[in-house]
Amino acid sequence: MKGVILAGGLGTRLSPLTRVTNKHLLPVYDRPMIYYPIECLVNAGIRDIMIVTGGDHAGDFLKLLGNGSDFGLDDLHYTYQKGEGGIADALRLAEHFADGDKIIVVLGDNIIEKNIRAAVGGFFTQRQGARILLKEVDDPQRFGVAEIQGSAVMGIEEKPAEPKSNLAVIGIYMFDAQVFDIIKTLKPSGRGEMEITDVNNAYIAQGTMTYEILDGWWTDAGTFESLHRAANLIAAGGANHVPEDRPATLFEMGASA
Ligand code: DAU
Repeated sequence: MKGVILAGGLGTRLSPLTRVTNKHLLPVYDRPMIYYPIECLVNAGIRDIMIVTGGDHAGDFLKLLGNGSDFGLDDLHYTYQKGEGGIADALRLAEHFADGDKIIVVLGDNIIEKNIRAAVGGFFTQRQGARILLKEVDDPQRFGVAEIQGSAVMGIEEKPAEPKSNLAVIGIYMFDAQVFDIIKTLKPSGRGEMEITDVNNAYIAQGTMTYEILDGWWTDAGTFESLHRAANLIAAGGANHVPEDRPATLFEMGASA
């Protein structure tokens, strides 16, 4: 399985912080934001990773991350999204990299406390389709919101004014190789973006979507409030950002050796 981190977009909600840099290079406590999704994938056992970025500061990702040696990786792959056509538009660019494999997609501004190894293992043995992770939140209007019945996901609404549940779809998605064909059928939404929620709803319509409830905290970091919350959550978990039940990354082991 391969990993794709989506770190494009203009980050306008964080202006002026994002005027001279990319949102995903901003600090979240003791690390640049992009470190967290990379750690998330590495901690799940994924070593083949592509970063999709965009905007005026794409070269800074190379300067910061190089070939991923900070994370114990042999190499990192990069590609460039022109404009900000949406999450599904950014994912489209990973088709050649995926090369028919299943993929795990992590949004570059999503940070989780624990590791997703069990969910990834479950998806590895899932014959086909997709898997999403859900988390109860107080402000579902800000997110994709899932309606579930037992073990089935009935549908997802993107930022609904009247959410059908308080279960946010977090920015970690697992897809089989069909995802790129699904993206090709999408039309831009009202806000002019190719929506990841439309991709997920296509899998739901097929009856091949599964879900899990995420264990531990989750936050995005794309607004002033959530960026601040992310830093506080990480600080509260200790400067190493390694909760007791989470194994250290290769980077952390190497850094303290
Ligand atoms: O955080 C989880 C939420 O992320 C989900 O619940 C929503 O269903 C999903 O649509 C998304 O909502 P946001 O409106 O918060 O997404 P945002 O536009 O902030 O983009 C999140 C990340 O996706 C961003 O940090 C980088 C990447 N992205 C986004 C866009 C619009 C790209 O790589 N390219 C893009 O064009």
